[in-house]
Amino acid sequence: MVWCENLVKIYKSDGVEVMALQGLDLTVERGELMAIVGASGSGKSTLLNMLGGLDKPSAGSLYIDGKDMLKLDEKELISYMRDTVGFVWQNNARNLIPYLTAQQNVELPMLLKGSANRRHRAEMLLEEVGLSKRKNSLLAQMSGGEQQRVAIAIALANNPRLLLADEPTGAVDTKTAAMVLDVFKKINKELGVTVIIVTHDVNLSKSIDRVVSIRDGKTATEMVRRHSLEDIASLDSLSENKDSAEDAVREELAVLDRAGRLQLPKEYLNALGVKGGGKVRVELEDDKIIITAADVHGS
Ligand SMILES: Nc1ncnc2c1ncn2[C@@H]1O[C@H](COP(=O)(O)OP(=O)(O)O)[C@@H](O)[C@H]1O
Ligand SMILES: [Mg+2]
Repeated sequence: MVWCENLVKIYKSDGVEVMALQGLDLTVERGELMAIVGASGSGKSTLLNMLGGLDKPSAGSLYIDGKDMLKLDEKELISYMRDTVGFVWQNNARNLIPYLTAQQNVELPMLLKGSANRRHRAEMLLEEVGLSKRKNSLLAQMSGGEQQRVAIAIALANNPRLLLADEPTGAVDTKTAAMVLDVFKKINKELGVTVIIVTHDVNLSKSIDRVVSIRDGKTATEMVRRHSLEDIASLDSLSENKDSAEDAVREELAVLDRAGRLQLPKEYLNALGVKGGGKVRVELEDDKIIITAADVHGS
């Protein structure tokens, strides 16, 4: 669904250049639900905006749903944004109109597009996000979690193949966040929509099968599950400590870029006493690659 290689984004403001993405690689399969994590300022929103067609990369390759995003003209870009992609933001004021009902809010994007069957589809989507009973409530009367679920229904209104969510649970409590995540999982499963969620919520990312972390505008590491959910359930019941059972089945993998370059975790470099920009000794031994601090002044 998404393929990007060596993606670069440079912002220029007041003569100062900020390199928000510094050669990022990412592949997302069709029908996948995955998360992107990273510190504030690491380039998560920048990446999501590129994926959503809201902004153009400065360099690199970006293909979404088979389309070369760097080559789309204005008309193609508009139809991409209208037909292929849906967006959910942290601040749902960007998604929602407070003085309309949930139903009217969901119908609005379909009205703008001139779709038939708006009422029926809006009802179906509100049911999908578990809000059938609240469909006639004004947005202003709904809780944060409910509003975020309406935002998801709106993002799905035009039947996108790719759903992007930028910190969708940043403004709600932990319990509500888990509920909102469940809605993403449900629509991913039932509608087959590819879902990419940006989050800095560690608890949230723990229950997502694939989590890619971005550091300084580059893909750094990837967490993948080693076992099926059934294994996790049985491990949970064996273990006193749920968290350690969770950790046991998750593995953090460093990402090799397509040229074979690897970013080593800062903590590991610190432990070796090696600084970024320095040198290390790399040796192949049986089935391992061993990295040791190089004594550049010695023999
Ligand atoms: N429109 C912009 N103009 C200039 N700099 C920007 C703009 N948007 C983001 N940046 C900068 O790019 C970097 C990445 O920002 P962002 O993608 O928002 O990070 P994140 O979402 O991970 O917090 C930051 O240094 C930020 O200040
Ligand atoms: Mg952001």
